[in-house]
Amino acid sequence: MHFIEQLKPRVSCHLSFIMCDAEGRVDPKPIRLVAAVSRNMGIGQKGDLPWNLPNEFKYFIEKITSVVEPGKKNLIIWGRKTLEPFAETLLPLPNCINALLSRTLSSAPEYVHYVCPSMMDAIKMASTPPLSENLETIWVIGGVEPYAEAMKHSWCDQIHITDIMEDFDCDTFFPEFDRDVFKLAKEFPGIPTGIQEENGIKYAFQVYQRDVLFT
Ligand SMILES: NC(=O)c1ccc[n+]([C@@H]2O[C@H](COP(=O)([O-])OP(=O)(O)OC[C@H]3O[C@@H](n4cnc5c(N)ncnc54)[C@H](OP(=O)(O)O)[C@@H]3O)[C@@H](O)[C@H]2O)c1
Repeated sequence: MHFIEQLKPRVSCHLSFIMCDAEGRVDPKPIRLVAAVSRNMGIGQKGDLPWNLPNEFKYFIEKITSVVEPGKKNLIIWGRKTLEPFAETLLPLPNCINALLSRTLSSAPEYVHYVCPSMMDAIKMASTPPLSENLETIWVIGGVEPYAEAMKHSWCDQIHITDIMEDFDCDTFFPEFDRDVFKLAKEFPGIPTGIQEENGIKYAFQVYQRDVLFT
């Protein structure tokens, strides 16, 4: 399959029928998760990442800021606690619109474009004009509840995991997902193969995929 083709959502039904139109029908977007996960399924410890892997983090940033079509943007969905350590140092991100999930915040921190009270609100906003017109991919970048909710959505076609091949002390864990439904790709365009090593820690980049039905 051509590189660009494989980056597109793998839709298997009538995309043209459900593209947004004057009647207000929705314009579905691929929903993708990205996480670095330790052997014991950990993702966080005391509000931060349990490891220091600058190249892995760079790979993550490149992924969520990449667009196939010039001029398009990605919607990045953050849980409130995931954003906290990065709010002042990482934003703004190129090609990204930031949506923060919170049931308590009433105003958006700097460089956060939207505060959404639920995942469904964020997805609805992303798949409805005017935002949908300029949007390519919805990236859900954690934490636990945003991941768990997003992976159950029928538009979720990819889970990108960095498999950190060690146990770490963690207090936050990636939710279980069905690996018979999301299948590990043997290789994936643009994803480095083989085992990487940084600061003595081994890891590998993985993509789990499923065919998506937009219904
Ligand atoms: N390894 C990785 O790739 C990775 C990725 C992401 C995060 N992490 C780590 O995971 C930890 C943070 O994750 P977490 O699960 O504890 O917290 P989180 O999901 O980032 O934040 C939790 C807060 O987000 C809001 N929220 C979450 N889901 C929501 C929903 N469906 N609707 C509305 N609001 C929602 C709520 O905010 P309010 O309380 O304001 O309502 C909730 O208290 C940190 O240690 C972080 O470093 C690791």
